[in-house]
Amino acid sequence: MGAIKPLPDLLISQIAAGEVVERPASVLKELLENSLDAGATKIDVQLEEGGVRLMRVSDDGGGIAAEDLPLALARHATSKIASLDDLERVASFGFRGEALASIAAVARVTVTSRAQSARHGQRISNHHPPAPLPEEGGDKFGAALRAANYPVEPAALSAGTVIEVADLYFSTPARRKFLKSEATEYAHCDEVLRRMALARPDVAFTLSHNGAAKRRLASADFSARARAIIGDDFFPQARALDESAGPLRLSGLAALPAYSRAGRDEQYFFVNGRFVRDKLLAHAARQAWADILHGARHPAYVLFLELDPAGVDVNVHPAKTEVRFRDARGIHQFVFHALQRTLAVPLAAAGGDAAAAPRVVAATYPQARQGSLGVGEPAARAYVEFARAAFADEASAVAPAPTPEDATSPLLGYALGQLHGIYILAQNAQGMVLVDMHAAHERILYEKLKAALDAGPPATQALLVPLVIAASAAELATVEEQQEALLALGFEAAAAGPREIALRRLPALLAGGRIDELLRSLLRELAEHPASRVIEARRNELLATMACHGAVRAHRSLTLPEMNALLRQMEETERADQCNHGRPTWVPVSLAELDRLFMRGR
Ligand SMILES: Nc1ncnc2c1ncn2[C@@H]1O[C@H](COP(=O)(O)OP(=O)(O)OP(=O)(O)O)[C@@H](O)[C@H]1O
Ligand SMILES: [Mg+2]
Repeated sequence: MGAIKPLPDLLISQIAAGEVVERPASVLKELLENSLDAGATKIDVQLEEGGVRLMRVSDDGGGIAAEDLPLALARHATSKIASLDDLERVASFGFRGEALASIAAVARVTVTSRAQSARHGQRISNHHPPAPLPEEGGDKFGAALRAANYPVEPAALSAGTVIEVADLYFSTPARRKFLKSEATEYAHCDEVLRRMALARPDVAFTLSHNGAAKRRLASADFSARARAIIGDDFFPQARALDESAGPLRLSGLAALPAYSRAGRDEQYFFVNGRFVRDKLLAHAARQAWADILHGARHPAYVLFLELDPAGVDVNVHPAKTEVRFRDARGIHQFVFHALQRTLAVPLAAAGGDAAAAPRVVAATYPQARQGSLGVGEPAARAYVEFARAAFADEASAVAPAPTPEDATSPLLGYALGQLHGIYILAQNAQGMVLVDMHAAHERILYEKLKAALDAGPPATQALLVPLVIAASAAELATVEEQQEALLALGFEAAAAGPREIALRRLPALLAGGRIDELLRSLLRELAEHPASRVIEARRNELLATMACHGAVRAHRSLTLPEMNALLRQMEETERADQCNHGRPTWVPVSLAELDRLFMRGR
């Protein structure tokens, strides 16, 4: 007798179960997918002891014919595909014909079902040992069926299918040891149900645990379902998207950075309705938020990617949570750009009513009178310089007298004053708005710098008298080594002595900032990376540094026209709702909220 022997069927299924039936939640996922594949419109889930003691999934789907029942529990038996061609364009959740067999290998499974045309229900279970099959060639299904030759008996059932899975891992105690607490296993089951419920708002779901009702989800539209699943905090910050490019479509909800998470727990990505954890998609999303979200925070989203099933291979992972795209690059680009566009829509175009008349702002304003910018206080002078350079293209530096009820009133309203040199207080049609002037200006500068660099070499401003800055030996060395990078960013600097740098030219956009600080931070960043790669790889980080130091500092007093100019700039700037670190740049307080504060009935 040789050393290599074929494995018994049950053991094969138990091995397969190791991949598919990782924990109760993975069983639930398979059962829910089967119900959805069967066309269910209502699915009820009952769990006991985290799903380990018992899991019962009842659906109102098409049911299973009596003669098919033994095959439902057999390995490699499926009603969903029949050929390689089917596999390559599979549209159902299931196709492996393995889930129920794997589950039945590690738990007591009972399937009760009534096909639509059947006169009554039928039941099969693996509680009893299977009846012996004829020895050779008796049936065309061979070994597959042999594992599942359980008796079928009549049972009462009005319609659909009920699958009960009891005593998970009773036959494989080693597995049971890996299970976590009941509460943890239940939480994973709940998460599986949440995903399914998000993907299929048209289907009604209920969930109970140890006899207590936990979820009751009526069939709904997507946004009502999402609200029920994700919670109300997400919504005020969520932007809906629906973008298509040829056969690709991306829709769903993406949260602005003001609603970010410490973990990846609110990232739902579905490909053709299937929840996936896909590195490519996650990467595209991360990149879309990278510009506006602090590195330690995670974005929140519910996104649905739809494409021709032939363009995606779902047969990559036994639990089907990974996929492979035929055109990975194209998908990445599409997802990235669709999200980036959604997150970047300027305030004026995105904000509620303002959407109807997004661009009236600039048009209704009289020309800026330069004279009004001539501010006496020395503290403001630097900013005025900046304002001339940065806002030169704007016709909106001066606001008419505010009339809040005016339908054309801009989204962020008109400035009333400055609070403690940090915030701008403005009045808009809905109430009041507070703006963090440094954060807001930083964002505007950053976007302008990016746009300027995209368009070619940035506009620079020569300094009549070079600015001489004290520098360390390391900083001097960086100036020498990174000449090319500095020039590309719009800086002309050279050593002016053993301990000094002379700056002769800098980007016009930054002329009003703290130039010495700006140059030092820039040199520090440039020094960390080899000269050849620094510009392409870290351009945006460098621009963010420049914007931070170029932006108007707190405690600098601004005039009303300057403040209004900043507000108008914000309305026109992409992604102006957050600073480069993901903090909000402005906060609205409505009249209703103010009334509440003062307990004032209206
Ligand atoms: N709730 C259900 N309603 C109707 N038919 C069902 C249900 N659950 C299972 N079936 C039938 O049992 C078969 C086997 O189910 P199983 O989950 O083991 O395999 P599958 O769904 O075809 O493929 P996969 O292993 O990829 O899930 C299915 O192909 C389907 O015909
Ligand atoms: Mg299945």
